[in-house]
Amino acid sequence: MTANWPAAGLGDTLVRVTELTAIAAEALVGRGDEQAADRAAALAMREALNDLKVRGRVVVGDPDVMEDYEYVLPDGFEFGSPDDPEADFALDPIEGVTIAAKAKANAIATIAAAPRGGFMAVPSIYMEKLAIGPGHDPGILDLDEPAGEIAIRLAASKGVDVSEITACVLDRPRHDKIIADLRRAGARVNLIGDGDVAAVIQTALPSSGVDLYAGEGGAAEGVLAAAALKCVGGAMQTRLVVRSNEDRRLASEIGLEDLQKRYSVDDLVTGPAVFTATGITRGTLLDGVTRSAAAFETFSLVMTSHDCVVRRIHSRIPRELLT
Ligand code: FBP
Repeated sequence: MTANWPAAGLGDTLVRVTELTAIAAEALVGRGDEQAADRAAALAMREALNDLKVRGRVVVGDPDVMEDYEYVLPDGFEFGSPDDPEADFALDPIEGVTIAAKAKANAIATIAAAPRGGFMAVPSIYMEKLAIGPGHDPGILDLDEPAGEIAIRLAASKGVDVSEITACVLDRPRHDKIIADLRRAGARVNLIGDGDVAAVIQTALPSSGVDLYAGEGGAAEGVLAAAALKCVGGAMQTRLVVRSNEDRRLASEIGLEDLQKRYSVDDLVTGPAVFTATGITRGTLLDGVTRSAAAFETFSLVMTSHDCVVRRIHSRIPRELLT
């Protein structure tokens, strides 16, 4: 199934999808309307996907379910021609839709592709996540241990004092215990407003200053982050968070009955993958879209698991190409 993977040129063409999505989203940055921004980005992504020479299926769709308009890139959405090579997709047209609407830092457009069956389907619920970069024993990660213990073990593996470890955590009351554990152990905590896909990726990029990601975020974002780590290296331990009967029903609907099961990068993304992200607003992972009278400029990451190459792409796209 994966012998011809990635489908010819997919790594190079997929970045155009997130570039066009980010440009569409940028028009709605700072306008305070999350739904309008998400809709514009999702529609642009859907249009760009239709131009790929791929017979595609969305397995992990846009998690930002909005009730007052048709869901534009749902799980199960199919596109492309039957004659083209098959691929599955996990995507989020705006990862950080609230921050985009408020013109804050770190909103990205992101997508990942894999051969058919390569992504674990997940319900639209929360997921506990721990993530570290490459070169460490994945056994360091244990969701049942205090986060401070993970930081201490990671410090030992890195050969540094725990005071040199920085953990990134979403700034939410539900993370108070994790934050306290990390600080008590001596680690630094980098609190972010949104965007745990970028935070997980940063654990694998030495220059980011982020060593560990810990906390609960969207399950869909967990699969996207796993696709990136599949390409760049690193480890995750994740587990679905079931808070209600409705969460249980959503998990059961897609065949997930063992709700204590922990999932690694290889469980979430079973084979090869391609991952791309383009900055919408300026952030710690990527710069945002900038525009002049003549062109848009975008900053993207392209990662491919078959060769472990990470590319940073700065594109200048003349406006006339977009009309
Ligand atoms: P969106 O793609 O919905 O904008 O997600 C932003 C985000 O911060 C994710 O990165 C994270 O997984 C999730 O929201 C956390 O959810 P919540 O904001 O409910 O704590």
